[in-house]
Formats: sequence, structure tokens, C-alpha cells
Amino acid sequence: MALALRTMRDDDLPQVLAIEQAGSPAPWSPRIFHDCLREGHHCRVVEVDGGVAAFTIYSLVAGELHLFNIAVAPAQRRRGLARQMLTQVLNEAAASGCRAAWLEVRASNEAAITLYEQLGFIQVGVRKAYYPAYAGREDALQFSLEPLPVVESPAP
Ligand SMILES: CC(C)(COP(=O)(O)OP(=O)(O)OC[C@H]1O[C@@H](n2cnc3c(N)ncnc32)[C@H](O)[C@@H]1OP(=O)(O)O)[C@@H](O)C(=O)NCCC(=O)NCCS
Repeated sequence: MALALRTMRDDDLPQVLAIEQAGSPAPWSPRIFHDCLREGHHCRVVEVDGGVAAFTIYSLVAGELHLFNIAVAPAQRRRGLARQMLTQVLNEAAASGCRAAWLEVRASNEAAITLYEQLGFIQVGVRKAYYPAYAGREDALQFSLEPLPVVESPAP
């Protein structure tokens, strides 16, 4: 069954922040999430058993998808949630005419890198010492996917 992605609401933010804080060495502040909602970025959540289990934030601008953030609650990981979320987002982007997707990821984030490579992303660059890390700073790896997967037309 297709995963139900819905638009993030202000009242989701406490759960979204808990997921963010569990998943990043330098978590986004509440202010950044508020700004994303106010600026009209695509902010989506997935619910499991009535609670927010995962979220993603991205933009679709000038024919490109930019993935800003994606995270899954620790208890819900390795169940395919992130892969299904991203697949839906890529399909939405392709259907809206986007030609390419871009993202950045910490060099140490093996889980996310494996996920992106599984979906066909390839590494196209490095930003040296881009992210704050637990100790010092860490490189950002830049990944892209182009062209986006072709979306199957629904049966007539
Ligand atoms: C990265 C993250 C979003 C993956 O979410 P998830 O729902 O657990 O991922 P999925 O179950 O959809 O996994 C899809 C594939 O990604 C890879 N993967 C996911 N977690 C992995 C891990 N811990 N180690 C190695 N590969 C992993 C696997 O190839 C997996 O496929 P498989 O289960 O068939 O082997 C999750 O670990 C997370 O929230 N991490 C903290 C936040 C973060 O790092 N976000 C990315 C910022 S760029």
C-alpha cells in the first residue's frame, strides 16, 4: 500500500523536532522548521499508528528538486519509510516537470548515502568541512539524480 505523505502542520513540530534531534549531530532549530513552513517549502510527514514517524522537506524550483532534510524516528528505521517517501517525492517532482534532484549529505552518514545510491543518486562533488560535527567539521557530499525516473501513467 502506498505510504500516505501529508503536509506538515505547526502542531507536528514537537514530534518533528524530536525526530530531528535524534538523527543529527547538528539538528535544525525550531526557527528553521518554522521558516520552512512559512516560506512555502514542501514539508511532508508520514504517520504511523497516529504519530509522526518521519518527515521530509524539499523545494521544487526551476525544474529542480532540492532535498533539504529527511529523517525517520529511530524506532521506525529500516522499514523502508525513507525509501518510500523519497520515491514518492521523486515521482511528484518528475510529474511536475522537474528534470533533476540535488542533495547534500554528511560524509560519515553511511545509512543516508546507501539510501540515495539505492535510488540512483550519484556523487557529483564535495564541500570540504561544510558541516559542524561532534568534533570539528565534516565534509558534505553533493549528490544528484538526472534525469528523474519516468512516472508510469495510471491505467486508463
Ligand atoms: C537515513 C534515514 C533517513 C534512512 O531511513 P530508513 O527509513 O531507516 O531507511 P529505509 O528503511 O527506507 O532504507 C532504505 C535503504 O537505505 C539503506 N539504509 C538505511 N539505513 C541504513 C543503515 N543504518 N545502514 C546501512 N544502510 C542503510 C539500505 O540500503 C536500505 O535498504 P534495505 O533496508 O533494503 O537494505 C534514517 O536512518 C535517518 O533518519 N537517519 C537520521 C537522519 C539523517 O541522517 N537524514 C539524512 C540527512 S542527509
